Parts: sequence; C-alpha cells; structure tokens
Amino acid sequence: MTDTEALKRRAAARALEEVTDGMILGLGTGSTVAHFLQLLGEALEQGSITRVIGVPSSIRTGREAGELGIPLSTLAEHPILDLTVDGADEVTPDLDLIKGMGGALLREKIVAQASRRFVIIGDEGKAVTRMGTVSPLPVEVVDWGWSGHVAYLEGLGAEVAVRKSDDGSPLKSDNGNLILHCRFPDGIDAPGLLDQELHARAGVVETGLFLGLADEAILAGAADVRVLRRDP
Ligand code: A5P
Repeated sequence: MTDTEALKRRAAARALEEVTDGMILGLGTGSTVAHFLQLLGEALEQGSITRVIGVPSSIRTGREAGELGIPLSTLAEHPILDLTVDGADEVTPDLDLIKGMGGALLREKIVAQASRRFVIIGDEGKAVTRMGTVSPLPVEVVDWGWSGHVAYLEGLGAEVAVRKSDDGSPLKSDNGNLILHCRFPDGIDAPGLLDQELHARAGVVETGLFLGLADEAILAGAADVRVLRRDP
C-alpha cells in the first residue's frame, strides 16, 4: 500500500469508530471510501459492529459494498441517515468542500443532505485554504445542449474539460448526465455566489461545491490524524 493509501485507510479507521450498532449509514464514493467499506465489511464479519444498513451514493459503491457483504438499502426506504462517511477533493478549515471528482456528486449531495451527520475522510493533501486551488470544480449538466455551457463557464473564469470515460467518450454519470471539470486558475473567490449562479442556469444539475454540509473532517497526515469539527 502506498503512503497515501495508508493515510486514507487511517482516516477511514478513525471514521469507523463513529459507527454504532443499528445505524443507517450513507456510503460515499471514491478511493478513500473504498477503505472505509473494507473496514466496515471486516467489522460486520467479525461482529464488532452489527445490524448496520448502508445506503450507497453511487452504483460503484453499491457494487463494492455488496461484494463486502454490507447490507444495502435505498434512500426511498431510509430517507433519514444516521451518519454518512464520504471522501472529498478539497476541504477548507471551515469544512466547505469540493467533491465529485469520482463522478458521483449529485447522489453524494442528496445522501449528505439526508444525513444527521456528514463526516469527511481524507489524507492531508485534501486540505486547502482557498477553494479551487487543488481540484477542478466538477459541475453536472444535462446532456442536451451541454456545449452551450462551456463558453458560459469560461466567462466565469474557468478552464473547462468534459469528463471522459476510459474509451475517450464523454462519461455519463449514474444519472445519465455529463460532468464538466472547471479549473479556476486562481482559485474560487466567492464559492457561495458561484454556487448560486451555477444553480440559476438551466441545464446545470448540481455542482461539486458542498458548502455548510460537513459536520466533521478526518484528515490523516504522516504525523497525526486531525479532526476538524463544525462549530455547533
Ligand atoms: C466522488 O464523486 C468524490 O466526491 C470523491 O468523494 C472524491 O473525489 C474523493 O475521492 P478519493 O477518495 O478517491 O480521493
């Protein structure tokens, strides 16, 4: 395991300490969450955690969790989740996030909003002081007329790239939409205003700006694990 993977696993292990018997758990998406799923699967197999039900935020996570024997359900059956554990592409000291470089931002945000507690796990490389400086901002748009958004986003200062599949064709999200990766060369000045502006545009389905949603971020570094919490 690489050093970064070991850090992701350490953050995941710390998050698992917050899981108690019988919880309805939102399951995020990505390589850090994959560690959390493995550890949760092991805990269920060993009986150190019992009776949890997972609600996956993507087809990928549903498949991974299913293979690990984690019982699964849907938001339709469990519209309120006790705890969701997910990764992030950027985490600010105020717990604002960029998410979605795994392509699952819409379902991830729906799951986060349904959660009593939303906990982020990651390695220290995800910590930023200014949003948009490490990761592009993923924006999910409907397929129809999508190219019309490119000039609009460029007008907001972004360099835009369509997310591609392995075969080079535009990738469709689990919801059948496209994802535009928007890199802001100097970072994002006013994330809240940008989010509002993007949501006001027809055809934009959701953005990877997760503002005011996370309750806690567990960031593992080589020396220690930092736990950032939102002020109550
Ligand atoms: C998935 O769409 C994303 O929001 C991921 O949670 C995010 O990209 C972090 O992924 P990794 O854990 O793979 O870095």
